[in-house]
Amino acid sequence: MKLSAKSFSRFVFTLCLAALVGLPALRAQTGQAGSAPPVDPVTGVPSLLLGTAWYPEQWPESRWDADLELMQKAGVRMVRVGEFAWSRMEPQDGQYDLDWLSRAIAAAGRHGIYTVIGTPSAAPPAWLTQKYPETLRTKEDGRKDEHGNRQQFNWANPKYRELARSMAEQLAQRFGHNPYVLGWQIDNEYSANSYDDATKKQFQDWVRKRYGTLDNLNERWTTAYWSETYSNWNQIPIETKYGNPGLLLSWKRFVSDTWRSYQKNQLDVIRANADPRQFITTNMMGWFDGYDHYTVSQDLDMASWDDYVGEGQLDPYRNGAAHDLTRGFLRRNFWVMETQPGSVNWAKINNSLNKGEVRAMAWHDVGHGADAVSYWQWRSDLNGQEEYHGTMVGADGTPVPLYAEVAELGAEFAKAGPVLAGTSVKSDVAILHSYDSRWAINWQRHNSEYDPVTELVSYYKPLRNIAQSIDIVNPSAPLNQYKLVVAPGLNVISDAEAKNLIDYVNQGGNLVLGQRSGMKNIDNGLQTERQPGPLVDLLGGRVEQYYALTSPVPVSGAWGAGTSQLWAELLSTKDADTKVLMRYGKSNGWLDGQPAAITRKVGKGSITYIGAWLDEASMEKAARWMTEASDVKPKFGAVPAGVDVYPREGAHGKVYILVNFSKSAQNVTLPSAMEDVLKGGSTKSVSLPVYGVAVLSTTR
Ligand code: GAL
Repeated sequence: MKLSAKSFSRFVFTLCLAALVGLPALRAQTGQAGSAPPVDPVTGVPSLLLGTAWYPEQWPESRWDADLELMQKAGVRMVRVGEFAWSRMEPQDGQYDLDWLSRAIAAAGRHGIYTVIGTPSAAPPAWLTQKYPETLRTKEDGRKDEHGNRQQFNWANPKYRELARSMAEQLAQRFGHNPYVLGWQIDNEYSANSYDDATKKQFQDWVRKRYGTLDNLNERWTTAYWSETYSNWNQIPIETKYGNPGLLLSWKRFVSDTWRSYQKNQLDVIRANADPRQFITTNMMGWFDGYDHYTVSQDLDMASWDDYVGEGQLDPYRNGAAHDLTRGFLRRNFWVMETQPGSVNWAKINNSLNKGEVRAMAWHDVGHGADAVSYWQWRSDLNGQEEYHGTMVGADGTPVPLYAEVAELGAEFAKAGPVLAGTSVKSDVAILHSYDSRWAINWQRHNSEYDPVTELVSYYKPLRNIAQSIDIVNPSAPLNQYKLVVAPGLNVISDAEAKNLIDYVNQGGNLVLGQRSGMKNIDNGLQTERQPGPLVDLLGGRVEQYYALTSPVPVSGAWGAGTSQLWAELLSTKDADTKVLMRYGKSNGWLDGQPAAITRKVGKGSITYIGAWLDEASMEKAARWMTEASDVKPKFGAVPAGVDVYPREGAHGKVYILVNFSKSAQNVTLPSAMEDVLKGGSTKSVSLPVYGVAVLSTTR
């Protein structure tokens, strides 16, 4: 082994770590015997982790080793533990018992398995909710939640926060320097809010802080409408569906800020007691919009999410976009903290993913920037609400058929990890996503079929097929690195966001606004200019009127002939240099012959507005036009339809992951010879069976 000065110091570091940890880290790095796979030279921790949720508290300790042995054989290098074990960690008020957890972490370590600790606040114990009933949440219908399920706590309640913080503090004091512990997951899938009077009072205080005076609030929410005028802050209600749009949006923002402070309450105490190398995350939920994930992410070290297909098979576009969304929260790699080993138990039909699909999905995750894929869960609980859920090991403690597929993955992750170390996803195209806009559209869809996520994916799919890599970021993110920025449904737009977009175009960027953009202001009120509001002047055109459609309307022009579905905005141009790209055909009279998409060049940049919800074929042509106009090229090159390509880049070169999601075997000719990381050797082409995977590297 030849060591440069830099890698020598890493090697010394690993030596120290191995001495500390006693893990097979060093053994693996020096290539000596042992079943543990190679490790990342920087820290000893594999750069690509296969993991599983493990609940040692549910099993006799005498069984742990057998489970860990099976995990080790499958190449599992990480377990997430503890996130529902409060009653075991603190059996009585103030009496903590963490010895069992310490033994579980050590046992996992002996099998080459690192640990992520979940703080257990998503499932408070019965003694707690009995002794402090004020910590129970009040549901929207006014009923108090109770013990026996989970998430029964009130996230805004100070007593609950105090108790959860003490629990997190105990954990952090005990394990904050434990070398086996990689990091922390706070709570589990934030989602349940409380509608009690004390929370309402907090909301009223929040509104007061934001708006300052009632006059300001009344004006910005246009409360003269329906006599909604407030003369006292304590009159402000909680509304979640049919309230004043300003009130609805304020509640969501309050909910988001309250989850952030709920999280920070535990995060601060962990940070104060833990090594900086231990990350802090929480497991989010893809397209779930219960809170603004940009708000909540900002205090975390890493984003992670729970990626479940539920019923049916993996849709690589919708799911891939959810990965890109999660990657966009902190604009760096993320973890899949939970994913389904075959099937779930909560869908309408809990079908299993097909043979090979679980492995294909894991590589799809990694391709989108995941550095860990962790299955929920290891072994069937003997009782409890999730007896039927997919696992790797059955209630009897022996592997289920899927185990072998996951073990294959474990071996592959070990091979590919070092090649993927330090790589991330770099895109020339960004899609803008905003919770404010999604909420605003969902509260007033105007056409019940109008789903803002489906709208976003309708742009994402053809753009991804061409560019082979997309970032999804919020409208205030830095945009200069992108050749093309597409904002489908940027319904609510703040002045700062508008400025960000205007600057981007003026500096040579190409901006495409999708239907319903620029309609609302920061209070979810109507902009006083027609759409796209603050971008009208830049566009040199505007939306004259919007129409919800009962049936598709013909459109034709630069992108051929097709239809607009669900929605059509009648556009106009006011500047001579704003060009019409598409026009509506004969339909409701109003739209006949009118512009459906317009564009204007601005220096080296451009701004385009698409008012139609284009059918798939037209959207493909529109995407082709957008990428050509902005000089976006495929990151890899041509691949057969149904083969997904995922580029990741690092200082040492590029890695391409290819997954065949089509219904037949496919051959792919590579743009140049590359290393076949999984099979070994250099190659100029790969053949991929259905669900086949190739990992190709230019890094060495
Ligand atoms: C997740 C949750 C897990 C488990 C899983 C089952 O939402 O975080 O605890 O319930 O669903 O699919």
